Amino acid sequence: MKKKASDEECIEEITDEVKSDIKCIDELPGVGEKTAEKLREAGFNDLMSIAVTPASLIAEATELGTATATKIITAARSALKMGFIGGDTLLSRRSEIGKIKFQSEELNNLFGGGIETQALTECFGQFGSGKTQIALQLAVNVQLPKENGGLDGYAVIIDTENTFRPERIVQLAEALKLDPKEVLSKIKVARAYSSDHQMLLVERISDLIEKEKLPIKLVIVDSLMGLFRSEYAGRGTLADRQQKLNRHLHDLQRLSDRYNLAIYITNQVMSRPDVFFGDPTAAIGGNIVGHASTFRVYLRKSKGDKRVGRMIDSPCLPEAECVFRVTEEGIRD
Ligand code: GTP
Ligand code: MG
Repeated sequence: MKKKASDEECIEEITDEVKSDIKCIDELPGVGEKTAEKLREAGFNDLMSIAVTPASLIAEATELGTATATKIITAARSALKMGFIGGDTLLSRRSEIGKIKFQSEELNNLFGGGIETQALTECFGQFGSGKTQIALQLAVNVQLPKENGGLDGYAVIIDTENTFRPERIVQLAEALKLDPKEVLSKIKVARAYSSDHQMLLVERISDLIEKEKLPIKLVIVDSLMGLFRSEYAGRGTLADRQQKLNRHLHDLQRLSDRYNLAIYITNQVMSRPDVFFGDPTAAIGGNIVGHASTFRVYLRKSKGDKRVGRMIDSPCLPEAECVFRVTEEGIRD
């Protein structure tokens, strides 16, 4: 049976290792000046971004036919010598995974030691459940040395709801006896104004890492769906929204693999009046977000400053719950 055009289509075909010294997209066969420009405009800046994209998307971006797009993709893959990777190589890549710890043993245990690089971690829950506070705590903690649960890294925050408050970072930093100015300087914040802008900002992160040489180890998107949700309010455009969202999540995943960094996204919930037992809420964004997230945690409010986190989905951790607190000093047991 012929599958629909999808990402699998890209992976299915194995390219032989052809000797090739193509280094940038302008050198690909069939890519002239105009096409190269269109590719860049659509965010395909390097060979990898082309190699891992379905032909239909490249065709759409360049207004070329699918056959030509396929040729371009094949050439990009040959140049990158893509194919199967040995299990041993994968194991050694996994050995590079770093973990960012919380200031809470309860949360550390829930996450099997902290949030991982090369993965996407999603926390979803109602307003005030602690999604943003966790994000800010992680943005500070990632800067700590490895022996103290950090990764000696910088954080990037893509703020879609204008909720970033530097004053709060100062509090969190002071509580850990860190220099607040230095901590703030290692958090790069960008306010996203539209879903397109949000996606563009993700592309810019490669520049921060490669051109500005910033050791970014954590990328936060708070919140993932806010802008998508308001821009695609009508049901008629839901399919478009999901397609774009899918692309956004893949961009994030690719970023985390390529630079061995952690992605933390926050997500809201919608009420589900059809659910009578258990918690009548579900993360918005549907299955696309659920499948893209490596770790999914549901947060809910408890008494006072107490919050409950439940691991919903993880490749290796049990479904478990923990209690933590949001205090003046930050996230604590
Ligand atoms: P939405 O973004 O509205 O969906 O909520 P959220 O899940 O991001 O909630 P957030 O993490 O912002 O807040 C969780 C709780 O942290 C709030 O209900 C407050 O009680 C608490 N909180 C937020 N800021 C502070 C602060 O500066 N000091 C203290 N002590 N608590 C705070
Ligand atoms: Mg928030």
